[in-house]
Amino acid sequence: MWKGRFSQDMDAAVLGFTQSLDLDWRMAQADIRGSIAHVRMLAHTGLLAGDEAETIEKNLREIAQEIKDGTFKPKVELEDVHMNIESRLIEKCGATGARLHMGRSRNDQVNTTVRLYLRKELLGIWEGLETLINVLLVKAEEHADVVVPGYTHLQQAQPVSMGHFWAAHAQAFMRDARRLLAAYDAVDESPLGCGALAGSTLPLDREFTMRDMGFSRMTENSMDTVAHRDHFLDILYFAAVFGDHVSRLSEDLIIYFTTEFGWVRLPDSFCTGSSIMPQKKNPDVLELLRGKTGQITGALVDLLTMMKGIPLTYNRDLQDDKRGLFRTLECLGLIFSVLPPLLAHVEIDEEKANRGFADGLILATDVAEYLVLRGVPFRSAHEKVGHAVRWCIEHDRPMDKLTLAEWQAVIPEVGEDLLPLLTPRRSMERRNTYGGASPEQVRGQIARAKEKLAAYGREMNAYKDRLPDML
Ligand code: ARG
Repeated sequence: MWKGRFSQDMDAAVLGFTQSLDLDWRMAQADIRGSIAHVRMLAHTGLLAGDEAETIEKNLREIAQEIKDGTFKPKVELEDVHMNIESRLIEKCGATGARLHMGRSRNDQVNTTVRLYLRKELLGIWEGLETLINVLLVKAEEHADVVVPGYTHLQQAQPVSMGHFWAAHAQAFMRDARRLLAAYDAVDESPLGCGALAGSTLPLDREFTMRDMGFSRMTENSMDTVAHRDHFLDILYFAAVFGDHVSRLSEDLIIYFTTEFGWVRLPDSFCTGSSIMPQKKNPDVLELLRGKTGQITGALVDLLTMMKGIPLTYNRDLQDDKRGLFRTLECLGLIFSVLPPLLAHVEIDEEKANRGFADGLILATDVAEYLVLRGVPFRSAHEKVGHAVRWCIEHDRPMDKLTLAEWQAVIPEVGEDLLPLLTPRRSMERRNTYGGASPEQVRGQIARAKEKLAAYGREMNAYKDRLPDML
């Protein structure tokens, strides 16, 4: 394409090194759609005759079909998706096709293509995330009355419900949903018309192409436009935080699934066995999910590092911007293919979950708060209950089974009304502060999360409605 300036052919190794076809061919449909917007704009502004524009659009659509049918085999010598499609166009309609690239550079072209491609991809990611959150909310409702230990430092702390646990993870994914919307918004700008870096001497109409491709706005500065990849970083940051959330949820379930904890049951169809130990049922799916974090966080660090030393404006380093991003999108797709169905089938063995409550010590905070309501300052209540804990351990007596006489021997302020409060279930149910562990609070949380999710869904649907045909 640039043969005018060069007297030697490109070295074969250099060609392999500089090509990006392996990465960008997947964006062929988006690239064609961007070219159609460009060509319509050229006709609209009079830079191209109406019949020429029609010929180009018709041929571009045919090329799109050839690609779908698999009859168009791209050539690596043509370096990337853009050159392959343009040269096919010229092959099909000669001098008319050769007019397509006026007023455009691959720098604003690739930018446009990726943004078109990403908008569609992000809508797919949204659907996965929405499904995941919905599954968690269903589980939260199902298990709102199932009592399990809540941990700090992985030590039993206070009783909660499994519903509260699922809803906690749902909250993390709700924040991810917000970040995903923000990333979508960052992608949703039209860069077409910025040219190589400085715009064009031709009377291009950027607003026209923006509208034709259904973008919300145009980028503001042509140099900035072709030079930055902040919108990729926004996606990668969303994905990295999301990956951490997936990993933490997986880790929780892996721990609760161990023989030592043993109160989470995973479906056989999501576990694997051992080639040597016949008794094994391993949580490999959860482990693989936990492991994905490395790749995703790696992609974020990769691009952050790549970007930091790039002088304005476009530099070829930027071609590799897509590698980690596409890898990340693939990872997210894999996560969504297994995590929601796995979660939907998780069962809880409440009796086993409550086995660790045998010493009754998980109720110690409840006793301290009981004393506070009887006028004891919290610090002394804490100390008194601390003594009671020691007494229970020394006398090998479960705290929830002490008689009134035993209680009063250690803490004189205790009355008979304490005794019925001392069960893990009542403890969980009485934590009725906003966002607390009680079933009432968990149900409130679920209802609000559903509303918020529906509002996010409406935002996403509005974006979806604006996607142009062919995407
Ligand atoms: N394949 C290139 C990329 O992905 C297209 C832009 C090439 N621009 C250039 N000035 N060499 O970034």
